[in-house]
Amino acid sequence: MKAKIAPSVLSFPLPSLRPVVEEMAAGGADVIHFDVMDGQFVPPITFGAQFVKALRDVGEIRFEAHLMTQTPERHFEAFASAGCSRIIFHQEATAHGHRLAQTLRHMGLESAVAINPGTAVETVFPLLDVVDAVLVMTVNPGWGGQHFIETALEKVHALRRRKPDLDIEVDGGIDPETIRRAWDAGADLFVVGTYLQRAPSIAEGIRLVRERCG
Ligand code: DX5
Ligand code: ZN
Repeated sequence: MKAKIAPSVLSFPLPSLRPVVEEMAAGGADVIHFDVMDGQFVPPITFGAQFVKALRDVGEIRFEAHLMTQTPERHFEAFASAGCSRIIFHQEATAHGHRLAQTLRHMGLESAVAINPGTAVETVFPLLDVVDAVLVMTVNPGWGGQHFIETALEKVHALRRRKPDLDIEVDGGIDPETIRRAWDAGADLFVVGTYLQRAPSIAEGIRLVRERCG
């Protein structure tokens, strides 16, 4: 499996994201990760679909919406229309994750179900045939710059054992040290926020985390 890097825009100044997203795309990002927070599922509010749409003309790079919102079934269409080809919804935020994943698949969108650090991995087992990926949160959702939660790796392991071909995404506290442990546990898609903001450059940061895998 190849490691894929999903830079998160969250830790960069939102009003001037265009050059940042262009730099992420040119620097080797596989997909750009947009953290959508609704003030309900998590306390902060970030941005909506119009904000993402305004950046869509940066080029071909794929966009993914990480919906940290209640009732993601009410919100995903706006982000799909805004140009997100991957929709990540939280298992904790809907009673109908299976149906939502089926809908996304019918619409030709990629889907991922995300689980918080306090959610058991077994809760997503019934969804594994209808989602394209599972996102294991390695911090509690809501804020960038938090410490990686090591015990989340047991969930990555369990998923990899169960589904050798599944895309397993990890999100939160990823840097050149933690990415190695997540990769060894079986993750293959890595959201990177604060580390890229602190790296010598975005491209160099992407290179440094990628080279730790494999
Ligand atoms: C947290 C978000 C993350 C965040 C990761 O709720 O889902 O995507 O941007 O940022 P870092 O890399 O700073 O933990
Ligand atoms: Zn995220």
